[in-house]
Amino acid sequence: MHRRTLLTAGLAAALAGSLAGCAGGPGTGSKRILRLALNQTETHPSFLALDAFSKSFEAATDGEFLIDIFANEVLGAQQEILNLQRNNIVDLAIISSTQLENINQDFRVFNVPRVFDDVDHQMRVVRDESISGDLFRSLQQSNNLLVIGAFTQGERNIYAKRAVTSPDDMRGLKVRVQESPVMLRMIEAMGGSPTPMAFGEVYTALQAGVLDGAENNEVSYWTQKHYEVAPVYSYTKHLVGIDYMVASASMLDDLPAEVRPIFDAEWARCMEHFTELWGQSTQEAIDGCTAGGATFEEIDTAAFDERLTPLAESLLTSDVQKSIYERTREVSTS
Ligand code: GCU
Repeated sequence: MHRRTLLTAGLAAALAGSLAGCAGGPGTGSKRILRLALNQTETHPSFLALDAFSKSFEAATDGEFLIDIFANEVLGAQQEILNLQRNNIVDLAIISSTQLENINQDFRVFNVPRVFDDVDHQMRVVRDESISGDLFRSLQQSNNLLVIGAFTQGERNIYAKRAVTSPDDMRGLKVRVQESPVMLRMIEAMGGSPTPMAFGEVYTALQAGVLDGAENNEVSYWTQKHYEVAPVYSYTKHLVGIDYMVASASMLDDLPAEVRPIFDAEWARCMEHFTELWGQSTQEAIDGCTAGGATFEEIDTAAFDERLTPLAESLLTSDVQKSIYERTREVSTS
């Protein structure tokens, strides 16, 4: 069932050459098209919120601007998308924070286990310019990439063919991780064998037995149908993950002066809309997976906590990383 369309050289060339994002020909007037890359299905809440964003932005600009959403990883995996954004082939993308860590290690801070207590804490930090502002702007000049906000990934947990209740259960388990050094260290610390892989490859790898398990939130477990091939979801609660909206900095600079505030306001509404959808989508995902035969196991996480909590200290070494981490922890409520 699983689909993944690779971005071929031909497709990239076609996108690059498509009148720099303008639709319409001579005499037809032109519509500015912003291309948005997403690795989720059309049933995922990020697609639903982005689709509403696209429609309201189009209406608010009297049809002059259109955000065209390429879902299902059809333009490539997140690492590839970042390259397309650097070259202005893709204008907007939802990118996991783990991927930005590979360009600027300071992004590690928001990927270390236990940095965020919960979604509320995470969103407070994202909105707090004094904590996240410099980090989010850090790739603007060097890479043409600007983080303009975020969607939560919620709490991520391990799933496999059997329950994982302790580090002993993780021994020898090949667990897919996102391609980032922090994710590798995290699974090692939990006792497993991390295998980095792009999101769209995971279903087939689980099915083929190349992987024994993976880790994600309930919503991706459901929308990617991973529950079909790894039916036991154990609440290890190892990470509250985060996706960024990454914009091409030059695309934003090129927006007409009257359009930029409209874009910013509609995007701010989209973030709120996504957060509203998130809780509901999580419950629907649990119900759907359960009906499909999956089980959800609550476990005592103490043994994992003990191994995960010290990771921040060993992984965050620069002054900038330490300071963002400390400020983030200061605004926690626990
Ligand atoms: C989540 C997240 C994606 C990410 C994926 C992954 O679904 O929203 O942005 O790519 O996890 O594990 O790769």
